[in-house]
Amino acid sequence: MKKMISGIKPTGKLHLGNYIGAIQQFIKFQDEYSMMIFIANLHAITIKIDKKELKESTKQLIGLYLASGLDPEKVTLFLQSDVPAHTQLGWIMTCNSHIGELNRMTQYKDKVAKKEENITGGLFTYPSLMAADILLYDADYVPVGIDQKQHVELTRDLAERFNNQYGETFVVPQPISPKVGAKIMSLSEPTKKMSKSYKDSKGTIDLLDEPNAAYKKVMSAVTDSVGIVRFDIENQPGIANLLTILSTLKGESIENIVKRYDGKGYAEFKKEVAEVVKQFLITLQAKYFSIMESGKVETVLEQGKTIANQIAYKKIAKVYKKIGFTI
Ligand code: TYM
Repeated sequence: MKKMISGIKPTGKLHLGNYIGAIQQFIKFQDEYSMMIFIANLHAITIKIDKKELKESTKQLIGLYLASGLDPEKVTLFLQSDVPAHTQLGWIMTCNSHIGELNRMTQYKDKVAKKEENITGGLFTYPSLMAADILLYDADYVPVGIDQKQHVELTRDLAERFNNQYGETFVVPQPISPKVGAKIMSLSEPTKKMSKSYKDSKGTIDLLDEPNAAYKKVMSAVTDSVGIVRFDIENQPGIANLLTILSTLKGESIENIVKRYDGKGYAEFKKEVAEVVKQFLITLQAKYFSIMESGKVETVLEQGKTIANQIAYKKIAKVYKKIGFTI
């Protein structure tokens, strides 16, 4: 069975972009692949985060993984900080990364360009840690949204570099993103991606948003004056984004939706998208709240911790030997 790994940072609130770009893929692949999914909490502290907020976001994230349909019988779900090998290999990968490569990472460059304050060393070297997350588990594939692809490309380079220097050690992984939905855009500024850090509550549908409030957000989504429902990212980014959201949540092709709305206006189209989003949230949240009351979150993490440590420990021991740490 081919192996797959991915993770999400427990910072801010999980939104529809995270669901469509990442979680929906995890669910789709959990039967076909040997899958490890984790909560990237070591990555969460690359920006300033309050202890209470981190704890809450972590619990929420695992609750949302489970409510979305990730099955702990099929998938190993774990907390990154529960597996020390991530930090151990993270350091080795940091020493294996060139400054120029890290400087080119778009997410880091964007933060620098925006002159954000208190940019940490961790934010700069975080792609090296991400490489370690992936390489520890010999993953063949990494399901991610488009914004993370560059980090997986770097992971490939680092794996090859290490293999060349020390001999075959790591599987060189491939990123995979959904054909539709790899970059969900903000509802209020459809040329910018929907984002956890971007302060844009009107443009972002959080998975724990009150469903009627989410309905309203969709109804007030920015569109255009063309008046035709069609998929044209360049000229009609708002409509293209709503089409993507509807298509992925409903499981209907964009082509079909466009046909159904031939000759009809935006109001009717938006109503359908809003209703589908609302119903999706109602169902998801009902599951989420019952999971959160069940105490399942803690049990699942305990199981995952044991399995992940067994795999990761073996790998880091092998790496230590190759490097010359073991005498
Ligand atoms: P994070 O937490 O920013 O995002 C989690 C996942 O959601 C995807 N995503 C989106 N997809 C579509 N449209 C959007 N607007 C959107 N916004 C986010 C991301 O691409 C990602 O797949 N560095 C990672 C976490 C990580 C990781 C890893 C992932 C750490 N180690 C190893 C894979 C493998 C991150 O910050 O994702």
